[in-house]
Amino acid sequence: MLDLIVIMIAEADPREEVIQAWYMDDSDEDQRLPHHREPKEFLGVLSWRLDADNYETDEELKKIRDDRGYSYMDFCEVCPEKLPNYEEKIKNFFEEHLHTDEEIRYAVAGSGDFLLSCEGYFDVRDCNERWIRVWLKKGGLIVLPAGIYHRFTLDTDNYIKAMRLFSGDPIWTPFNRPHDDLPARKEYLKAFVDKEAGEHALMRLFVGEPVWTAYNRPQEEHPARKEYIERRASSTVLTKS
Ligand SMILES: [Fe+2]
Repeated sequence: MLDLIVIMIAEADPREEVIQAWYMDDSDEDQRLPHHREPKEFLGVLSWRLDADNYETDEELKKIRDDRGYSYMDFCEVCPEKLPNYEEKIKNFFEEHLHTDEEIRYAVAGSGDFLLSCEGYFDVRDCNERWIRVWLKKGGLIVLPAGIYHRFTLDTDNYIKAMRLFSGDPIWTPFNRPHDDLPARKEYLKAFVDKEAGEHALMRLFVGEPVWTAYNRPQEEHPARKEYIERRASSTVLTKS
């Protein structure tokens, strides 16, 4: 048992115990609150934490399904013993691909041993083509938007039981990269990637050779500061007259 615990500690990222980061909500509430965005979202990927032990009666899950029209539901167990053509499927899951509809997975069980509750990784491309690894564990519900390039792998525990949700009759077809001409891909780029890139892009202009040096306050004796103060004072006088 001790060996098992040591392995788990070694695999977890110890930084997550002391430092975490997230996109904030837009609320004006107390700044000292965490301000988690609900549902958690980046690049169109949504996620929730739900009560996996009571998914049959979970009102929060019901509300998500009702709100988003997820009428279809089934379960999928991925492990060498239960998934036919396991090796081939695992290889296919890890090929970079997209779907023309959302991919929705809710991890409802780990390996059966509470110490081995870690389950699988979804890797998604960010707007700079880097992989973001999303570690999905029991209780995690993730929605990948249509058109996002992604891939999936189990972690070293080799087991996941996931609820699959879908709006209408399910279509699981993967389109391996490149499939940039699909309408779903174009719509995804427009809705999430272009928007995100635009929000982070700043045009920098300068007269002559750029000088980006920043002088921390106070700099009251600096000629540029003195000129600014003088100009402001004269413009105030002009305004008053
Ligand atoms: Fe997929």
